[in-house]
This record gives sequence, structure tokens and C-alpha cells, in this order.
Amino acid sequence: MSPIKVTLTAKVPSYKNDTAFVIGVREGANYVKSQSLVLGKSRVDTSSLRKHDLAQLGASATAEALTKVAAPNGAVFALLGLGSEKFDEHRARNIGGAIARNLRGFSEVVIDLGTLTKDQILGLIEGLHLGLYEFTGKRNKSSIKEPKLSRVIILSDLKISATDLSRAQIIGDAVNNTRDLVNAPPNEMYPAIMVRAAQKAAVGLNVKVQVWDEKALAKDRFGGILAVGMGSSRPPRLVKLEYKPKQANTKQVVAKVKIKHLSLVGKGITFDTGGLSLKPSESMVGMKYDMTGAATCFQAIIAIAKLGLPVHVTAWLCLAENMPSGTAQRPDDVITIRNGKTVEVLNTDAEGRLVLADGLSAAAETKPDLIIDLATLTGAATVALGNRYAGLMGDAKAIEAIESAAEQTGELVWHMPLPAELRSLLNSDVADIANVKIGNRAGGMLIGGHFLREFVPKEIPWAHLDIAGPADNSGTPYGYTPKGGTGTLVRTLIATAQALSINK
Ligand code: BES
Ligand code: ZN
Ligand code: ZN
Repeated sequence: MSPIKVTLTAKVPSYKNDTAFVIGVREGANYVKSQSLVLGKSRVDTSSLRKHDLAQLGASATAEALTKVAAPNGAVFALLGLGSEKFDEHRARNIGGAIARNLRGFSEVVIDLGTLTKDQILGLIEGLHLGLYEFTGKRNKSSIKEPKLSRVIILSDLKISATDLSRAQIIGDAVNNTRDLVNAPPNEMYPAIMVRAAQKAAVGLNVKVQVWDEKALAKDRFGGILAVGMGSSRPPRLVKLEYKPKQANTKQVVAKVKIKHLSLVGKGITFDTGGLSLKPSESMVGMKYDMTGAATCFQAIIAIAKLGLPVHVTAWLCLAENMPSGTAQRPDDVITIRNGKTVEVLNTDAEGRLVLADGLSAAAETKPDLIIDLATLTGAATVALGNRYAGLMGDAKAIEAIESAAEQTGELVWHMPLPAELRSLLNSDVADIANVKIGNRAGGMLIGGHFLREFVPKEIPWAHLDIAGPADNSGTPYGYTPKGGTGTLVRTLIATAQALSINK
């Protein structure tokens, strides 16, 4: 997929073959010419449409609906439903996505949606990059339609700087790369492969990569990652990616403000069979996406480094394949996590919290200003919140930082409580904590949060994002969201880092 070149111009391009002109359609006031739909404001000459009833042409004002009709000189009008919601930057991002998805067969697209603000234009551009993505895997070439779309012209009097354009491209790439990592089949995406991807991505960037193989994991007492990974012939790994800008920006140097340190910890189970607490076969399908948390942290730090944000970021990727075998961990095992706490493993399918416990402990040792972990942790998250919202748990300060970043990016997070009475469900007679309460089905996502909290010292602000719902879209594509891995929250992590780099 080659990138789309986006330009802004005030001059209307002439109609030509292989070009689609996107024009808005909205509900009209019914008394006007008794037509229910009207064209949005545009600069393009739409006189050839004027005599038509747009509804008769099949157009619709429903958000993102796209109807193609002939335009002069071999060009095409793409009549785009603008919906009834406020056309803010978030709607613009989704509309940009819908345009790229639906018009990928044209070489050139001209977008003429009236007068747009800078934020709307930036949203549109981001949406275009995200919406063009499609995972075709290893399908036969003849069944794949490569996108032709390479040039988008947005009609506007405004100018967008080269920096803004490259920023949109960097962020778009990070999300699309996350999607690629998640969509890759698990026979080709296991811990050592993620390690290689991380090493490759860091080349030429100010990002240090440190890798623990199974020997180093044992030496450094990463008992959670080892226990989960020991059932697989593909050994577990821990990766630490570190971006530490050499110089904070001048303003900060003058003010002698210490740059902030953000730690990201990601669940990287490259396939989750459940281990000896084996999942039923249907529930196992799709579990290649159980490394989304790690992929998201990985791509976020790469984008942050490319953007050169004045903030210190480390990403901990906790990588293992959860398999049943003669060497697998057993229910009833007691393991010791990096921070010295012992865990009674009662269900080997609650493995994400075991690898994260090690990752959180290691992150905490570096005393960062904020720790965020991301994980496809519980099926309960989807029961509670459906497939579009991530569950957000943790300390007030951390929650606030993430909620405000998510508001900027338009990604959906929902603050969930960690009710004190649930903690005692994890009490164990033989260890400091158990990984589940057998037979308990209430508040599964929150219990996961409680478990993780035990591995972060109280003085470090921490938040946990359960992305089991939004990490993957098993339905049809919508807005800028494709089928399969969505790359959700990469942008919110980048925005969180950005905010940390600005705030005192
Ligand atoms: N990777 C799964 C979480 C998951 C399950 C995501 C189903 C999406 C759909 C996780 O490792 C897991 O299996 N969690 C268990 C926890 C339980 C044993 C406490 C679950 O949700 O059933
Ligand atoms: Zn599991
Ligand atoms: Zn899992």
C-alpha cells in the first residue's frame, strides 16, 4: 500500500477520467422544490446534477453513505452522506476513512465539502491514511484489488504545513503497522518475530532495544512471562524499547523542567489457546489478536520517536505463546513475579495478567511518571462494553490523562471502577494472590484490573486499558476502521505522550 499524496488547493481541477469528485449530501428542508436531499456547499460545477432528484439517483444523507453518479468528461461524482451529527474533526476523520475505503479504485479523488476548518482538514487527512488500509494476507493475487488511489486534492483556501502532513503520515503508518502485526497469522507471528519487528523498526531512530530471551528471563526472575511461555516450543521474550530525547526542547531547558517519563506495558500473547485450561475450539479462533496490547505500545513509541516529542518513553512488550503441552504450567502452580510477589495460578487462560505483572514490575523499577498497560485481557470487557469501547481502570491522575487524550483523538474509552470488595476474591491460601476466582463470573474485567494493580507501587500513577472489545473488528468496516485489527489507541497513546511533553 503506497501512501496517498494529499494536497490542498483553492483552484477547482477540471473533470477528467479516473477522478472522483466528492460532494456532500444532506437532508434538505422539504419545502424546497419538494426534494428531500440537497447538495452541500461546493466549488465544483454541479450543474449537471441540478435537474435530478438526488434520492432518485440513490443518494443518501446517512453519514458515510457514498453514491457514485456520472460527472462530465468521464469523471464521477461521489455523493457523500454528511449525516446529522456535528461535522467536527472526529466526523471528518471517519468521513476521510469512508472516502478512502470506497473510492480506492480511482487514481485521484477531489474532496469538495465546502469551507473546512484546519482541524476538519487534519481529521480528513488522517482518516484517508487509515481508511485506505486493507489486510489481504496471503490470498491469491487475482482475488486482491490493490488500491489505485494515490492522490487526493482537498478544495480549501487554507494551507497545511509539510510538518502537519508528515505528522498525519507517521501516525497513520503507526496505526496501519499495528493492524498488520495483529492480522498476521500466529504461525508467522510469535515472540521471536515480534522481537525482530521491533529491532527492525528501531533502526535509524533514537530508540534503544533490549531483549530478554528465556535464559535472561530466568536470570532476571521474570516468572510470569516464563510460566506462560513454557508450554510452547517458541520461547517467550521480553522487549524493552526506550526513547529518550537527547535534548529537551529549548524552552524546557531554560525552565529547567525535567522531561517526563511515560512507561507503556503491552500484553503480547501471540496466540492464546488458554494453555492447559484449554479454550473451547470456537473461542480460540481469533486469539492471534491477543498480542494487540504489545503491538500498540510498540508502534506508539516508534511514532513518538519519529515525531521527536520531548518526552521519555519506554515500552515493555511481554511476549509469549500460551500453549498446552507437557512443559506447560498447570492450574495449581505457584509462580514468583519479578517484584517478588507469588501468584497461585488457578486458570492458565488468565495468562495476560501474569505476563503483565512482570512487565509492570519492571516498568515500576524505573520510577516513571505514568504507567499505562494495554491488554486484550478479558472476554468480560466485551460483555460489559461491547466492541467499540476500551475499559479504562486505574488511578485518578492517570485516568484523567488518558480520557483527555482520547477526547482529542476521538477513540472510545470508558472509565470503569475497581470496587474494593472485589479484591478479596483473589485472596489465596498458598500465595500472595490468585490469578482468578474459580466459579466467579461477576466483574471479570474489574478483577483483572485489581490483579494488575498489585504490581504497581501506589506512588506511581497507573492505568489499565482492557482493549478486548475494540482491538478487532469482526463486523464490516466503518469510518476509518477496517475489518480485523483496528489499531485502536495507538493515537491516544501518542496524544498522551504529547500532553505529558507539554504539561509541567
Ligand atoms: N485473551 C483472553 C481474553 C479474551 C477472551 C478476549 C475472549 C476476547 C474474547 C484472556 O487471556 C482470557 O482468556 N481471559 C479469560 C479470563 C478468565 C479465565 C478469568 C476470559 O476472559 O475468559
Ligand atoms: Zn487467556
Ligand atoms: Zn489472553
